[in-house]
Amino acid sequence: MAEKARPGQFIILITHENGERIPLTISDYDAEKGTITFAFNEVGKTTKQLGLLKEGDSILNITGPLGIPSEIKNFGRVLCVAGGVMIAPMLLQVRALKKAGNNVTTIVGARTKDLLFFEDEMKTTSDRFYVATDDGSKGHNGLGFLKEILEKEKFDRCVTQGPVIMMKDISELTRPHCIPTIVALTPIMVDGMGMCGVCRVTVDGKMMFGCVDGPEFDGHKVDFDELVSRQRMFLPEERLSSILWERQGDCGCDRK
Ligand SMILES: Cc1cc2nc3c(=O)[nH]c(=O)nc-3n(C[C@H](O)[C@H](O)[C@H](O)COP(=O)(O)OP(=O)(O)OC[C@H]3O[C@@H](n4cnc5c(N)ncnc54)[C@H](O)[C@@H]3O)c2cc1C
Ligand code: FES
Repeated sequence: MAEKARPGQFIILITHENGERIPLTISDYDAEKGTITFAFNEVGKTTKQLGLLKEGDSILNITGPLGIPSEIKNFGRVLCVAGGVMIAPMLLQVRALKKAGNNVTTIVGARTKDLLFFEDEMKTTSDRFYVATDDGSKGHNGLGFLKEILEKEKFDRCVTQGPVIMMKDISELTRPHCIPTIVALTPIMVDGMGMCGVCRVTVDGKMMFGCVDGPEFDGHKVDFDELVSRQRMFLPEERLSSILWERQGDCGCDRK
């Protein structure tokens, strides 16, 4: 996996034999050490279970690398916008885009300053670097300033990774400037190999599978509203599962 992984790909892991399969984006890989890295938010049962693991603990299995790698070549001037935990895989993209000769402007954003990370790494890797927070605790207050940047400057490509709403907003900001905009979609997934159809998304009016046709798509053609509603399909079950699991007490991997 460490030898074959490329920016933009993801893995699917399962923590124990009664666990659920969850997809996470590869944030880094080291073929020599034989390691892959990923970053995750603890939002529900499986990610909370994962967060309890300590160094040296193990999980049942990981499948990957999955998905089509990001297109990396010399596009010219590239705008990279990452939100929340997806700042981690964006650093991998920024490094690859720089290596391919691009001039890269990077924006990282989070709800509040305590949720920002990799600022120094992004700053040293990018040609220009901006920070934004929803509450204005650091950098620009929200992503409104991007509108001004786009009015003044020309970009040949935009790559964005983060919350679906953020990717939708960025796509709407770049649309009038005709900047090709790539979004990394996160539909619910099960097998990650094109068999179950759970990850289907509508792009340019056609049904695509997030896992094998993506996860990256043209942001100007994605039906984001459908994606959001499909992501919420199992909200009551997800909430119940998390509550029941937390009630059972903290005893690690034996918890179903
Ligand atoms: C290709 C891909 C790559 C991803 N990469 C990352 C990553 O690098 N880091 C990371 O933290 N998360 C990533 N996600 C989202 C991650 O898979 C979900 O957060 C995870 O499945 C939640 O599992 P859970 O059991 O902890 O929570 P669940 O109980 O399944 O869900 C809890 C809550 O999390 C949210 N959620 C669930 N599934 C998703 C989803 N697919 N996308 C967005 N929100 C979701 C919903 O609000 C839900 O109510 C990725 C998803 C996809 C499809
Ligand atoms: S996750 Fe099953 S087809 Fe994509």
